[in-house]
Amino acid sequence: MQDLAPDLPQNTNDFDAVQKEYVIKSFATERPWINYISNNRYTVLLSQTGGGYSFWKDPKSCRITKYRYDNHPQDRPGRYLYFRDADTGQVWSPGWQPVMVSPDQWECRHGLGYSKITSTTYNIEASTTIFVPNDDDCEVWVSRVTNHDTKSRTIKITPYVEFALFNAMDEYSAYFNLHFFNDAKFDPDLNTLWYYMHHHSWMELGKVFMATSEKITGYTVDRRQFIGNYRSESNPEVIETGIDHNTPVLGLDCVGAPSFELTLAPGESREFYVVLGVDNNVPDRAKHMITKYTDPAIVKIELANVKSKWENWLSNLQVDVPDLDTTTMINVWNQYQAKVAFDWSRWASYYHTGTYRGIGFRDTNQDCLGMLHIMPTAVRDKIKLLAGQMFTDGHSHHCFFFDGSGDTMKYGDDHLWINLTVHRYICETGDLSILDEVARYVDGGEGTIHDHCRRALEYAFRESGPHGLPKMFFADWNDCLNNICLKEKGERGESVMVAQQLVMFGNMFCEFSKWSGKYDDSVVDLQSRLNSLKARINEVAWDGNWYTRAYTDDNRTIGGVESGEGQLFLNTQSWAVLSEVANETRGKTAMNSVYDRLNTPVGIKLLDPPYRSFPNDVGSVIHYPEGIKENAGIFCHANTWAIIAETMLGRADRAMQYYLQILPPKVAKTIGFDRYRVEPYVYCQFIAGPDHPNHGYASHSWLTGTSVWSLVAFTQHILGVRPTFDGLQIDPCVPGTWKSFSMNRRFRNADYAITFHNPTGVSTGIKSIVVDGTPINGTIIPVQPAGTSVQVVVTMGA
Ligand code: GLC
Repeated sequence: MQDLAPDLPQNTNDFDAVQKEYVIKSFATERPWINYISNNRYTVLLSQTGGGYSFWKDPKSCRITKYRYDNHPQDRPGRYLYFRDADTGQVWSPGWQPVMVSPDQWECRHGLGYSKITSTTYNIEASTTIFVPNDDDCEVWVSRVTNHDTKSRTIKITPYVEFALFNAMDEYSAYFNLHFFNDAKFDPDLNTLWYYMHHHSWMELGKVFMATSEKITGYTVDRRQFIGNYRSESNPEVIETGIDHNTPVLGLDCVGAPSFELTLAPGESREFYVVLGVDNNVPDRAKHMITKYTDPAIVKIELANVKSKWENWLSNLQVDVPDLDTTTMINVWNQYQAKVAFDWSRWASYYHTGTYRGIGFRDTNQDCLGMLHIMPTAVRDKIKLLAGQMFTDGHSHHCFFFDGSGDTMKYGDDHLWINLTVHRYICETGDLSILDEVARYVDGGEGTIHDHCRRALEYAFRESGPHGLPKMFFADWNDCLNNICLKEKGERGESVMVAQQLVMFGNMFCEFSKWSGKYDDSVVDLQSRLNSLKARINEVAWDGNWYTRAYTDDNRTIGGVESGEGQLFLNTQSWAVLSEVANETRGKTAMNSVYDRLNTPVGIKLLDPPYRSFPNDVGSVIHYPEGIKENAGIFCHANTWAIIAETMLGRADRAMQYYLQILPPKVAKTIGFDRYRVEPYVYCQFIAGPDHPNHGYASHSWLTGTSVWSLVAFTQHILGVRPTFDGLQIDPCVPGTWKSFSMNRRFRNADYAITFHNPTGVSTGIKSIVVDGTPINGTIIPVQPAGTSVQVVVTMGA
């Protein structure tokens, strides 16, 4: 990889496997490296230096603290602590931001449900853990301060946040009026600051409080007074002068900046707490939370409860494989990220502003796959929620909000994905009753989930174009192919990828219809149309060495040798294999084309050559520079399907190569932390491809389908432990050098401890499977009784 710079200075950031934490050693990372801390009602996004924002319930309507997007490299504002030496007037922030005095020692540990920032500056050590309790609508900052000086020190401490105007959309569009509704004051009886807005929508929801365990001796709630004109959070006037304003605010921009002093003898440590939350208009709720989270014994227990919640969840799936980064990612961070994506779709991140997109229909269907082994009931609820976003004609909202409103633009693929989710849900749980659950249709009436699934498939068949493939409509999985099928050009453009998905998801529908006794004549008919579609794809979309991608309204081929730019697309090769549309020969040929033309040492490009000449019948893909996002970027989400495809072709080494080359801790080191930019402990959406001058920089970390599919690809296709309706299938496809490895997995409420031995170094093939001492026939372990544990010994061999 000549054009990257492997010798860029590296820091020593790394995993702490015992604590299940990622330890960041350098505060000035190229992009903020964040954590999500949430109980699904109160959510904190927190960067390593304290940047980020908090919201309650949802990121659009109930924003608690402010964050300014598009302000990088500042990463502001956030949750800050200001320390001011009462004798010398020296000022610093233990998190480094926002005062940015370089600490003598600094580290940030992102953990599961909490983060901890520790530093020492001017002989004062401060260690602050921020967490959200499992059952209360607040965040708690636990700060331990130690005086390492030889003399006594008095420090004035000011915790700081900037309050948001609650509705994040309105904040941007109607700030000029909204901020006049603000109201903030100090309540000495409760030792807290209150903040709320004189606006009926918020008044119904409640007030925000910010309290501390120490007696508040001064405060400022007016942003302009706190910061001072033409200053910033780095040098606020109140902190520099040490003089609080102690005046309530009506109709001005509000911050929360309570202050108090701590005097510490040499060697002495003291702990203080900050509680920031929402009272939901319930009398005494704030008081309850403040009392609770300023009590050291309770805080300790609540933090331990957060950690054990995660231990419990993660214990459902643990692996031990010959690659340490893989083991750590699968056991901890990949599952953690999958939960974040399951909760927040592509809605609220450091890239997504929490405003306009909401919950993505196709995204959330995919995200469900990562939570099935942990919280099948939550997935069941999500399936019902998703089904309720469909219309009677079978298509669905593209994105939607919790209030039921959604984006009605028709896409070629969205609706189809629900069949995948339902199929995988049934395989994981055996629960066929989901098919008889009833959900609404957006445009009236209701139907069973089975009916929703069927309508999705029928919609795609009904809405087919001249080649007999489903129409693309606005776009398909690739949101940027959005000029292919235009109303003004007759809306004829078709998607080969959607056709492949229709075959795969349709077959899944037929399977669960069979299991549930719903295999009637209409399903028989559907099955035969699926078989014909498979043949048709092979007839019309095989280009010689790979499958084409789409056909425009004017019948131009996208993704063929003749196409000029965008000749070869990754997805229709991997999905040809996934959907079993390709026979083995075509599958191998297509995936070899991918390897030869699209692969790089840091991931597979989405297409080649990139679009340069602005053809106007393709879509917004051409607006991205070459190598970025969908325009020949290394789109990590799509890489995961290539991993699965290679396992289905039995090519373990290539599958593993694809898996490892985008594994965050590895790719970050290959590219160099600074050049790669984003967090090395979670997947990102894309890495700039070789066609871009900044090849190797990555973006859109956290909220990406990459996380769930990497988890599925590794655990279900490389290790090959796959839930089926009849039991747990064992079908590994691993490098021959892997001689032994293991997985502990919960499946239908029983625990399977599975040990793999590979004495002859094969990549695929099972010689024997022994369950609790008894060999089984075939490769599917029958479902074990709930509550039991079994030992499974798998011996691989020809
Ligand atoms: C983004 C979208 C996802 C889409 C992908 C490719 O990740 O959230 O829905 O499939 O981009 O365009």
